[in-house]
Amino acid sequence: MEIKRVFRTKNIATILNESEKDKRQLKKVLSAFDLFMLGVGGIIGAGIFALIGTAVAGDGTRLGAGPALMISILLTSIACLFCGLCYAEFASMVPISGSAYTYAYASLGEIFAWIIGWDLLLEYAVGNIAVAVSWSGYFVEFLKTFGLEFPKYLSVDLTTALKSKEIMESAPRIFDIPIIFNLPAVFIVVLLTIILTIGIKLSSRFNIVMVLIKLSVLLFFVVIGIFFINPKNYQPFAPNGLRGIQTGAAIIFFAFIGFDAVSTAAEETKNPKRDMPIGIIGSLAFVTVVYLVVTFVLTGMIPSKNLNTAEPLSVAMRVVNMNWAAGIVAFGSIVAHTAVLLVFQMGQPRIFFSMARDGLLPEWIAKVHPRFRTPYIATIIAGIFVAGGAAISRLDEMADLCNIGTLTAFIIVCIGVLILRVREPERKRGFRTPFVPMVPILGIIFCLYLISGLPKLSYIRFVVWLLIGGVLYFFFGFKKSRLKEIKNET
Ligand code: ALA
Repeated sequence: MEIKRVFRTKNIATILNESEKDKRQLKKVLSAFDLFMLGVGGIIGAGIFALIGTAVAGDGTRLGAGPALMISILLTSIACLFCGLCYAEFASMVPISGSAYTYAYASLGEIFAWIIGWDLLLEYAVGNIAVAVSWSGYFVEFLKTFGLEFPKYLSVDLTTALKSKEIMESAPRIFDIPIIFNLPAVFIVVLLTIILTIGIKLSSRFNIVMVLIKLSVLLFFVVIGIFFINPKNYQPFAPNGLRGIQTGAAIIFFAFIGFDAVSTAAEETKNPKRDMPIGIIGSLAFVTVVYLVVTFVLTGMIPSKNLNTAEPLSVAMRVVNMNWAAGIVAFGSIVAHTAVLLVFQMGQPRIFFSMARDGLLPEWIAKVHPRFRTPYIATIIAGIFVAGGAAISRLDEMADLCNIGTLTAFIIVCIGVLILRVREPERKRGFRTPFVPMVPILGIIFCLYLISGLPKLSYIRFVVWLLIGGVLYFFFGFKKSRLKEIKNET
């Protein structure tokens, strides 16, 4: 029966063999250090520089964690650690650029692979829309340091603009249509898309420089901020109790996304078996420490309830009258956001690339540039999608949608590890997740805990997204999948 085909898996020997034979191979240039930097580059960004404000203070609709965000960070980090161990096992076993998408193909079957591929669009592309919007916010803020005012109608999301008479009236019009969109957000995405089309090694170096800058700026924030800590600000420690801690954890999860993006570079890694676990777990552990220290200093500097702003670290500096320091923090934040955008814009096309290679997306998407050896068509498509979204969207809504999509992908990866341990216990794994089945099961439970801290509207958006993906699969991927022509090898 045809329909059974949607559950067909592609076994690992086949995946590895195919990739070996495929002429469209990506260059193997990345080391463990590059991967660690790629991880840190992809992790520290809008989450710690912008969303931390809402996670601590809450907003009109959500409760904040207060200084207890430190507990939320620990919980989120543990969730990511469990899932990261599962990613590391897969990435060392199937070092293919598709990440969770490829893992799902190998363990759960084609329909799940499609769901994950579609779902990862939420993580990478929608996540990047959020980061680009946040980048723009900090950029506009940074210009203010020099007395420059960016026009509101060119740095705002559509929902806010439609609600504001002032913005609507100030916007120029072409054929009576007001010109309103987020210009800086579009600009940065287009710029990075061009850089990525040209080549990975260049971008990887560029990433290392940006990581060093953002770490220096966070260190700067901590060193200055520590002198302004007032112990009274730690009271009450958890103003909204466990519920606030959970909501804070669900929001701050965004700040952790990115360590898994390391796995999309598996095909370009010199020694994925050894380097992948170092890259994934190393970057995760490192940023957890950084986040705990930053949160400790931030919540000690000003009362939590004053932190509901899109640039909390700069605001904290201003509150203690350190305006020059606020400018430096804003600059570091722009750099941090740029590094995240770079890693995610690099990850997204690699998933398109893997899907197209399998026939689940049109084949031409997988073309590798003859000179640059990059998946340039997929890179450009991802750039157009993200730039278009960033032109009109809101940061918090996009971050929530990204979170729910990513958490779902994490759950599927954990399930995948469990399944393959039963189905292919003998297969060589460069890295083995310890304490199976406990670690994957705990990974799933923690992810569900975080999902239940997200707003209900994001559930609805997520289901609609999956339904659209389902329709596309049955009209395109199901028919064109190359799996039916492939005989699984052993
Ligand atoms: N973790 C990334 C950030 O916080 C997505 O910007």
